[in-house]
Amino acid sequence: MQKILKIRKIALLAALSMLVIAGCGKKQGKAGKAGQKNPDVAVDSAAVAGQKIPYALKEGKRLFSHYCAVCHGETGDGSGQYYGLTPTPANFTDKAFMKTLPDDKLFKAINEGSASVGKSNMCPPWGKSFHSEETEFIVAYIKTLAGS
Ligand code: HEC
Repeated sequence: MQKILKIRKIALLAALSMLVIAGCGKKQGKAGKAGQKNPDVAVDSAAVAGQKIPYALKEGKRLFSHYCAVCHGETGDGSGQYYGLTPTPANFTDKAFMKTLPDDKLFKAINEGSASVGKSNMCPPWGKSFHSEETEFIVAYIKTLAGS
């Protein structure tokens, strides 16, 4: 009886140490991956900004519909369902307004919120929600909304 208990103890210890080893292995794998870019969004930023590659626009549209349309409207005209906002959400279909928003300002407004570009604080900062490439996708998509 005593012997069986001892064997059980050893088996348990062995199982535990296997778990620890497996756990360490996983950690190492994660650390290795941390330096790499997420393959889903690993797109050359210049290519995104300059050429508006279709993937960027498709992804930009998806993110815009999901996160922004509720206020800015599905077409970007500022007529989202939170229509009571003051000031009203920016109208991205307004060509004259869009001329006042160069890419870097648009990026900053999204990344750090509208207050960061001297507007109200009604548009929240999105920098912690998106990878910077994703924000560039949104910028590229928003720029198509006024029709160019
Ligand atoms: C809660 C509602 C709300 C949501 C959600 C929202 N916005 Fe806004 N946004 C606003 C309002 C209101 C303004 C106008 C702020 C002002 O003029 O002071 C604005 C303004 C902006 C501007 C213009 C800043 C400028 O310089 O005039 C940009 C760009 C913008 N939003 C991008 C986005 C993007 C991209 C998303 C989604 C990732 C988003 N917003 C989500 C409410 C919202």
